[in-house]
Order: sequence, then C-alpha cells, then structure tokens
Amino acid sequence: MSDIALIWPDLTGHTGIEISDQPIRIGSDAHKKLFCRTLIQTFDPYRPAVIDWPKLDDAARDRLVSLPIWDIAVQTENRAGANVSAYAATIREPLLHKAVELMGFEERRHRHVLAHMVTAYGITLQPEPVYAGPSDPEWAFLVTGYSECIDSFFAFGLFEIAKRSGFFPVELVDTFEPVIREESRHILFFVNWLAWHRRNLTFLRRCRFELKLRAVWAYVIWERLGIATGMSRKKAAQFTVTGGNQLGPQIGPADLIDICLAENERRMKNYDPRLKRPETMPALAKFLRRFFR
Ligand SMILES: [Fe+2]
Ligand SMILES: [Fe+2]
Repeated sequence: MSDIALIWPDLTGHTGIEISDQPIRIGSDAHKKLFCRTLIQTFDPYRPAVIDWPKLDDAARDRLVSLPIWDIAVQTENRAGANVSAYAATIREPLLHKAVELMGFEERRHRHVLAHMVTAYGITLQPEPVYAGPSDPEWAFLVTGYSECIDSFFAFGLFEIAKRSGFFPVELVDTFEPVIREESRHILFFVNWLAWHRRNLTFLRRCRFELKLRAVWAYVIWERLGIATGMSRKKAAQFTVTGGNQLGPQIGPADLIDICLAENERRMKNYDPRLKRPETMPALAKFLRRFFR
C-alpha cells in the first residue's frame, strides 16, 4: 500500500478561542466558534508511525486478520480524507477552514494508522483503487459526514463488545481508542456544522441544500446496501449488523442496539452540552429496539 506523507496541520492562532459560558443560539457566530474550538482543542497529536503495535498470540492475530473490514476501512478513510480536505479547500472563513482541514488530516491519519496495523499483523489487502477526489466537494463532505454518523454509531458499540469479550487484547483496544474518539469528535462537528450551515443560507439556497441533503441520504443508504461500491461495502455493512456475534458471544440485536446507544451517549457526554448531538441514528435505534426483546 502506498503511504502518502502526513502533513501536520498548523493550528497556530486557533487553539485559544475563548467563548463565554452563556447559552448559545444554534447558527450563531458563537455556535460556530464553539464547534470549531471543540474540534481544534481536543486534537490528539499522536503519530501513527511510532505506534507500538502490541504483540498478539496466534489466535488473537487470526481473529483480527479474519475480520472482513480492513479493505473497506482503508479505502473509506482514504476517501474520507480526500473528501473532507477538498471541502476544506472551498471554505474561506479562516476558523471553519482550519477545523475542516484538521478533520481531513485526521481522516488521512486514520488511513495511516490502519496501514501500519495491516503491515504489523501481516494482513493482505486488495489493491487500493486510485481516488481522484470529488467533483462536488460539498456533496462529498455531506456523504462523508452522514456516513460517519451511521458507521460510528455501530463502531462505538462493536468496539465495546470486542473490548468486553476480549476479542481484541486490551493493548490493541487502547491503541485504537484515539481513532474511535476522533470519529466521535467528527460526527459531533459535522452535525453542528450542518445545523449552523443550514441557518446561514438564504431561503433559495436553503431549499436547494435541503434537496441535496435528501439525495445524499438516499445515496448513503444505497451505498450501504452494496449497490454503489460492490460487495466489499455490502460485506462490511452486514458485518455491522451481525458483527456482534463475531466479536463476542450471545449478542443479539437488542443487546447490540443497547450497547451502541449506551456507548454513543457515553462518548458524547464528554463535550460541551450546548453543542447539538447526532440524533438520527440514536432515534432510529430506539425505534427499532421496540421490536426486539
Ligand atoms: Fe476516520
Ligand atoms: Fe471521521
């Protein structure tokens, strides 16, 4: 796998943003400062190249290698990095630009983390398709944001299940924790950016944007059904739903939903209560939960 060098983000001048403790209005300048500051000030400067991948026994390594997610995970992070950075390049407002640029950097860094892990454990990947970058950066950013809202909700739960069952040794769980934490920061940033952005559009632009959002949702669901990107995405989506059984014994849909909801809440608790939280996936999960005992 080719490894593109990581260019470290320069956050100078953006780390000391001060905001009062007063309530904030969603869509206001204070709201924008708060969600950008939250992302920037919680940046974790770890370097993928120096991660000391823990030694696994043969059984643990085989379990890790057998998960059907590594190809799609590397490709997804690669595309996410390109999409988010392409959108960052279109933003003129300095603070928002810096925050979105940082998110793009973190996506590329996730790919580097996975690349190092794959090498460390001898996982063989399919050749990675070349991604030229998006033709519509806003569309690509929305697709990435909504996709992360869906995938992270399940990832939080599956990660916890793997932790409890010992599927992943503790050292490996600890090594991956920063990546999972970053995804929680990204979806928090995305839902707040979306709410802020919607409120700052003129009526006509807002109408157009709302139509675009519906099209993005349809695309994201279509993609998860495996139509857009072939079977690897479908396999990963199936893993999301049935992976609980692979990662830990006796995990039914009700348990999976409960753990995802609890983990989502636990992770989101860490941030300023004035920020919006992702709502769609938890609401959908709570609705579906009623049908499972
Ligand atoms: Fe990521
Ligand atoms: Fe992300």
